[in-house]
Amino acid sequence: MNPHLRKGTASALLGLLALLSTSAFAQTPSPFFQDRDLTKIGVYYYPEAWPSNQWGRDIANIKKLGLEFVHMGEFAWAFMEPEEGKFSFDWLERNVQLCADQGLKVVLCTPSPTPPVWLVRQHPEVLMVDAKGRRMQHGSREHACWSTAAYRQQVEKIVTELGKRFGKNPAVWGWQLDNELSHYGKDFCYCEACTAKFQAWLKQKYGTVESLNRDWGNAFWSQIYQEFTQIQIPNPEVLPQQVNPHAQLDFQRWFAEEAADYLRFQTAILRRHCPNQWITSNFMNVHSPIYPPLSGKDLDIITWTLYPAHGNLETGSLGFRLGNGAEMGFMHDFLRNINGAQGLMELQPGQVNWGDVNPQPYPGAVYLWIMRAFAGGAKMVCTYRYRQPLSGGELYHYGLVGPDGVTASTGGEQYSQAAHDLARLRQFYRADAQPPKAYAARRTALLYNVDNRWDIDNHKQNIRWDTMGHVLKYYRGLKRLGCPVEVITEDKDFAHYPFLVAPAYQLVDAKLVQRWTRYAENGGHLILSCRTAQKDRRGHLWEAPWAGPIHALIGASIPAYDVLPSPVTGKVKAGNKVYDWAVWGDQLEPQTGTATLAHYADQFYAGKAAATTHRLGKGSVTYVGVESLAGELETDLLRQVFGNAGVKVENYDDQLFVDWRDGFWIATNFTSKEQPAPIPKGAKLLVGSKRLPPAGVAVWME
Ligand code: GAL
Ligand code: ZN
Repeated sequence: MNPHLRKGTASALLGLLALLSTSAFAQTPSPFFQDRDLTKIGVYYYPEAWPSNQWGRDIANIKKLGLEFVHMGEFAWAFMEPEEGKFSFDWLERNVQLCADQGLKVVLCTPSPTPPVWLVRQHPEVLMVDAKGRRMQHGSREHACWSTAAYRQQVEKIVTELGKRFGKNPAVWGWQLDNELSHYGKDFCYCEACTAKFQAWLKQKYGTVESLNRDWGNAFWSQIYQEFTQIQIPNPEVLPQQVNPHAQLDFQRWFAEEAADYLRFQTAILRRHCPNQWITSNFMNVHSPIYPPLSGKDLDIITWTLYPAHGNLETGSLGFRLGNGAEMGFMHDFLRNINGAQGLMELQPGQVNWGDVNPQPYPGAVYLWIMRAFAGGAKMVCTYRYRQPLSGGELYHYGLVGPDGVTASTGGEQYSQAAHDLARLRQFYRADAQPPKAYAARRTALLYNVDNRWDIDNHKQNIRWDTMGHVLKYYRGLKRLGCPVEVITEDKDFAHYPFLVAPAYQLVDAKLVQRWTRYAENGGHLILSCRTAQKDRRGHLWEAPWAGPIHALIGASIPAYDVLPSPVTGKVKAGNKVYDWAVWGDQLEPQTGTATLAHYADQFYAGKAAATTHRLGKGSVTYVGVESLAGELETDLLRQVFGNAGVKVENYDDQLFVDWRDGFWIATNFTSKEQPAPIPKGAKLLVGSKRLPPAGVAVWME
């Protein structure tokens, strides 16, 4: 028996844990990605931009650095199809062969982000239209609208030709569709094709325009529509006052589904020609208009792009050079759970060019990010890009080699080091490794649904509110306690996890509340936070007391909430500690049998409950109605929930991460000071040392 589990609620927890199979951490493995391969390391290369007499040298040097695959072609449409219907792939095939000669695998891409000029001159209607009604020009990327028929036809042709030419080439490992599917800063397209498709989607969803009028609350301000064809895409730029929140939410849903449909469309073409190659698309880090779970069944692996240091200020004096390890961890833990395979398709190799300020990463930070990805179960880490460009919009962007094309940058050296270390770690991989018991006992699911983020962000009620920041406060707290976290969506079974956290889960229905209730009754420990269950899935308030559907679940009612304008802060007290808050504070009315964990210590409602907990069946439900400024309150309350459940937790500093994967313990230090790595006596140290400087990494086995 696990020595850390004590009597009492621990027995209920053990019952729950017993339901878990020993492969609690495993997902259905993708046939393309072997666990023993750990994390493969690769790099982007743009042969179309370099003289052909340098290709052989460059690819040989990529191999010498110790890298394992090369990524090519996502922006090369004008080279692949210089004139309509005239395809030119010899140059690409030559590069694939050069890689094969070196024993490097190749990831090829569909070049859809950059339609050639002949295409847009012939079909100007494929150019997207932004919120201000401006049609985009040729001369950048992601300027085409994937809803337009002409663009899809042209994409179908080029993807078909690529598939035919390379689908049976054994050197081609897999495919990336498009690149960071989006319109970058323009977010949404408002063109005629999008409008027509959105209308058709609404008709399909609502059947009658009367149902739509009801669900959009169109009685308000005479917004009533008579026909679906009268509906335009809700657009803040052409409305004197706020957008209808229900219309906006539906538009965001449609837009994300349409993007997923477009990826599915490309996938279907490649599947016809490439039976033995995997397919992915590289999603952007915490980018909300596109939603990767919608592509979970279409893609073999979900990959994403990460640039941790671009002038952003993160925790600690070195945070701007180290990046935010919690945000990265969240993405790994989220995308891994979509279909079981996750990887980083782009990772910053050094200074970037697109921030307002583009500082140097801290020495060792690139290695740190790679190893954080390894800890997060990434099947691959690929970096953008091999050579620093000498011309074009990204000429300040670092590569693995500098402007001379041969000398490794510091990032290049770190990639090389990581590739060698990972190759060495593979020798220690054990297929039968089981997560240590004390670690598995802390296993926590964090429930996420982008609908909540959209709906909250559409109407924050306090401009200081940051939805991802709120979610990350819980994630950070859990990692400080040393928990393995799986970020899951509602299609997953909650019963696999002894702890379940649903932060700011604003949109619910009766079925979800029932699932939460049953989860707790059966021994699970549920933690909900402010804003949860305020609305139904349409974004309507309940015709009931505020957040009425969860009152029985949380054992409290929520008669009021407060939000404070900057720079005002309020005080909330838990135990003997006082915390600052400002952004959201529910005032709770606990029912009999519900304990108060925190209460307000100032304002006219001083003494009112801010966080509560109660037993429900064999488990417990905790409601944290306030968001603290620094996230300390959230961490302390989480610690209390685990303590009440008899589960031992760790006490790491914020931004120090200690994760377990496939038998390896990995500590990554994103803090600005030296940290001890919690390596037990007798453990086998494989990488690093017991003292971790900022950006330090240690890997060991027990
Ligand atoms: C990524 C993008 C790459 C490159 C890179 C620069 O977001 O996918 O193509 O532009 O940024 O940091
Ligand atoms: Zn469009």
